[in-house]
Amino acid sequence: MDIIRARPEHLELAREAIDQLHGRTPPPDRILRAFLANDSSYMILGVVDGRVVGSLTGYALDQYWSYREFFLYEINVAEEQHNRGIGTRLVQAFADEARLRGAGNVWVLTNRSNVAATRLYAKCGFTPSPASDESMMTLTFAAGRE
Ligand SMILES: CC(C)(COP(=O)(O)OP(=O)(O)OC[C@H]1O[C@@H](n2cnc3c(N)ncnc32)[C@H](O)[C@@H]1OP(=O)(O)O)[C@@H](O)C(=O)NCCC(=O)NCCS
Repeated sequence: MDIIRARPEHLELAREAIDQLHGRTPPPDRILRAFLANDSSYMILGVVDGRVVGSLTGYALDQYWSYREFFLYEINVAEEQHNRGIGTRLVQAFADEARLRGAGNVWVLTNRSNVAATRLYAKCGFTPSPASDESMMTLTFAAGRE
């Protein structure tokens, strides 16, 4: 399996990952190209024989209190490929990039009930936050993108 950081020249693989792994409708090409060209946004793909079998997206965040954090936004591995170490390789590739770019940490939001994800992150060295009262709240705009 090849692990690649998707760049604009990997547009078709990125579309495949979004559609088939992340379960979203791929955005217009110009938006996806801009995402892939942005040095602060990441799509890391696991590719076997030209097909995408795993995908991770995330962001480099330059915070004022820490030079840089990396946020792992989502990771999906094709169901028939689970438990073969693909998720581990994707997370390690993202963490390697974070280290290389001087980040202080990598963080992800997950659910304690998601055993596979929790094991994956633990195996890659992540530690869970203490149980707390925190909740994530979202303000949604109807037409935010254009
Ligand atoms: C979470 C996910 C990405 C893991 O990918 P993967 O390629 O199967 O992960 P790996 O093969 O690298 O396994 C990593 C660890 O998790 C464990 N694991 C994987 N699937 C598991 C499962 N269903 N139940 C229990 N443990 C599991 C593995 O055993 C391994 O630990 P070990 O080496 O100590 O045995 C994959 O299950 C997935 O795509 N899930 C659906 C999407 C999702 O939940 N994403 C995370 C949202 S935060």
